[in-house]
Amino acid sequence: MSQALLEVKDASVEFNVQGGSVRALDGVSLNVYPGETVAVVGESGCGKTTLARSVLGLQGLAGGHIVLTGEEVKGTPRRLAERVGMVWQDPYASLNPKWKVGRSVLEAMNLSGKKGDAGAIFKEVGLDPRFVDRYPHQLSGGQRQRVAIGRALALKPPLVICDEPTAALDLSIRAQILNLLKDIQKANGCSFLYISHDLTTVRFLADRVAVMYMGRIVEQGPTEEIFSSPRHPYTAALLESAPSLEKLMHLPEPPVGEVPDPKTRFVGCRFASRCPNAEDLCRSQDPGATVEGDRITFCHFPVKSS
Ligand SMILES: Nc1ncnc2c1ncn2[C@@H]1O[C@H](COP(=O)(O)OP(=O)(O)OP(=O)(O)O)[C@@H](O)[C@H]1O
Ligand SMILES: [Mg+2]
Repeated sequence: MSQALLEVKDASVEFNVQGGSVRALDGVSLNVYPGETVAVVGESGCGKTTLARSVLGLQGLAGGHIVLTGEEVKGTPRRLAERVGMVWQDPYASLNPKWKVGRSVLEAMNLSGKKGDAGAIFKEVGLDPRFVDRYPHQLSGGQRQRVAIGRALALKPPLVICDEPTAALDLSIRAQILNLLKDIQKANGCSFLYISHDLTTVRFLADRVAVMYMGRIVEQGPTEEIFSSPRHPYTAALLESAPSLEKLMHLPEPPVGEVPDPKTRFVGCRFASRCPNAEDLCRSQDPGATVEGDRITFCHFPVKSS
């Protein structure tokens, strides 16, 4: 396999909160290789955005390492915008409301002393180049997200992180943005770290999937294998609760059990209190990695293939 573009090794992040601390990342290891899309999925609060912020150097690690294009990410990393672009859920958050969007798109280039052509970038992301003179409020939500994508891509970084890039958009616009991301990858050959709750979009975009639960990756592997035969009971539960055409006719199933308090210090598997397969061993011993080809699962009693 080629050299990883992004290597996250045993990364831990801890936040002090009232009444204790939360391990938002607790020994996360994940690689992203050139040209691939890796999705990170999991419920709200499992640590997805913390992982993105750590890769961008916005969040310090309590332990572990993050290596991006061969250089460790630490403090305020040098020339980071040339190495990684970021698309956030809310394009308003990344666009200055007082600037014409053409200026926002070129900001990273200007900061690194490069000359850019905002109109050409607009064309690449499917926008009319004449829009460069508009302000964010003069564009639709989908158009603003295209601007934000253009901004992340202006320096052609080899890695682009997208944190729920379609969550704030109308359903009809989501598919257009996902198709745009696919087209960009085909044209630029960049890698995506794609963060989402939405398993349908993950299946559409991702080559590999990492499933997170309470600060840990519990399972990772090729997308189709994870979707067709999940090994971790948590992945199986996530897939089970995902809306599908057939299920839209019925009320959603309530999730199994309660999500534990994130301040909990776990002895065994952190999914044990909600897991249908849990036995005493799960409550007393942290499961190690089971590796099968490209798949890694952390579970004492994985789901058997059907
Ligand atoms: N700045 C912070 N201070 C204290 N706790 C934080 C901070 N940022 C995140 N956390 C906590 O860390 C955990 C992980 O949060 P994070 O935002 O990374 O989750 P997420 O998977 O992105 O969730 P969502 O799907 O809702 O965006 C949560 O328990 C959260 O409350
Ligand atoms: Mg988040």
